Amino acid sequence: MNFSVTTSSALSQKQPAAVLFAFEKQRLDGPAAFKNLLRHVGPKEFRGAERQIFLLHSAGKLAPQRILLVGLGKRDKFTTETLRRAMGIAAKKLRDLGVERAAVQVAGDVGDSLGAIVEAAILATYQFRQFKPDDDGDATELKTLTLCLPAYADLKAARKAAADAQIVAEATNYAREIGNLPGNVVTPQVMADYARKLADDSGLVCTVFAKKELEAGGFGGLLAVGGGSANEPHLIVLEYCGSKDATPIALVGKAITFDSGGISIKPSDKMDEMKFDKCGGVAVLAIMKAIAQLKLPLNLIGVISSAENMPGSTSYRPGDIVTSYRGADKRAVTIEVLNTDAEGRIVLGDALAYARERGAKTIIDFATLTGACVVALGSIAAGLLGNDDALQEKIRASADRTGDRVWPLPLWQEYKDKIKSDVADIKNTGGRYGGAITAAAFLAKYVGDTPWAHLDIAGTAWTTEELPYLTKGATGFGVRLVVDLLRRWN
Ligand code: BES
Ligand code: MN
Ligand code: ZN
Repeated sequence: MNFSVTTSSALSQKQPAAVLFAFEKQRLDGPAAFKNLLRHVGPKEFRGAERQIFLLHSAGKLAPQRILLVGLGKRDKFTTETLRRAMGIAAKKLRDLGVERAAVQVAGDVGDSLGAIVEAAILATYQFRQFKPDDDGDATELKTLTLCLPAYADLKAARKAAADAQIVAEATNYAREIGNLPGNVVTPQVMADYARKLADDSGLVCTVFAKKELEAGGFGGLLAVGGGSANEPHLIVLEYCGSKDATPIALVGKAITFDSGGISIKPSDKMDEMKFDKCGGVAVLAIMKAIAQLKLPLNLIGVISSAENMPGSTSYRPGDIVTSYRGADKRAVTIEVLNTDAEGRIVLGDALAYARERGAKTIIDFATLTGACVVALGSIAAGLLGNDDALQEKIRASADRTGDRVWPLPLWQEYKDKIKSDVADIKNTGGRYGGAITAAAFLAKYVGDTPWAHLDIAGTAWTTEELPYLTKGATGFGVRLVVDLLRRWN
């Protein structure tokens, strides 16, 4: 999608459509011809309610051929997310109308509003089309948006805000595309191929540990989980260097390319959704991509632990005792496996130990880790846990700004006690209750006192319903959130 900025009004643009946002009961201003058109609009047809849209044809009376009115709801409830949702609905509507070019009137705080509009337009019109290209017969695409700003706006700053928002939104769609690919297409090796390609294109350094290197290095957790699949496990490391400061921030991701549950096999209902179990690792790829394009002045190390969890004669089993990657710690953590379906925490253990060995000063991990988190928070927010209140506070602030919502869960000692094992350091399940927290307690074993935050994205990584600026499938959750966090780092 292409964007341009101007300080002239959307109603003065000779374009197929102009988009105007309106609060409830707001009197829209404009040329007399526009007000004449509005006089015919009844209060039930359009009153500016959230999610309400109304299309007017200007019949040659105004410069734009059509005007799309988009409701923002009550003025005192307005946030940037309101605008993002409104623009998402508008962009889908324009696309469905066959409109390829439109002017959008931007009001409010230009920086935030502009970014939200660009972001929503790109996110809302994304479609996963790789495997049904024939359906594109009469499909149209929204190609160009003219962003119409108030007269006082700084056009240079606006152009930069639009370009930055485009980078972040396109990185999010990149995550959605890989996330949506099925398990027969994206194996751990293909995840590594994506990382190598990304490194080549974006100037990152990529190191891949395939099975042989994992064995030599002692990555016992990842090897155990990946043991049952012909698609061998891979640990993928991406490095971005944008600053002289040597200590990197680590982004760690779970990338189970398909989670059947292994020997503790899952019920078949909805098992197909477990192709999305790689979305944490995919978020790490996309964040690295965006940060490299934004050229942020910091150092990052991305560590993606990728395996396919399958049942078979070479699978790990309930009862097995697995030894994690040692990292810099005196003694490797040993795990009593009680359920092979609690595999995410095991592959993350190795990755966290590796990130720490590499000198990470802060660690943020992303994982579709527990069904329990979905029970707790639904698909509305990701679970946020960790060992550092200041870091969590920053993440919550970024969540509020980006609409990638998070909610904190406690990590008290009593939860940590639940994963103690009689035969190993820890066991991989903590019982039926508080499952999102006991999973995080397991991860805590690997981070020591390094500031760390864990995002359980099991409920938010994909959506089964159409949302205002998202379509069914992978959401790219975490990408916009953590890019926002890193832009404000320091
Ligand atoms: N990938 C799943 C978690 C999951 C479940 C994500 C449903 C999204 C939707 C994870 O590997 C898993 O299976 N966790 C188990 C842990 C349990 C066996 C302790 C779970 O949540 O049931
Ligand atoms: Mn599982
Ligand atoms: Zn899983």
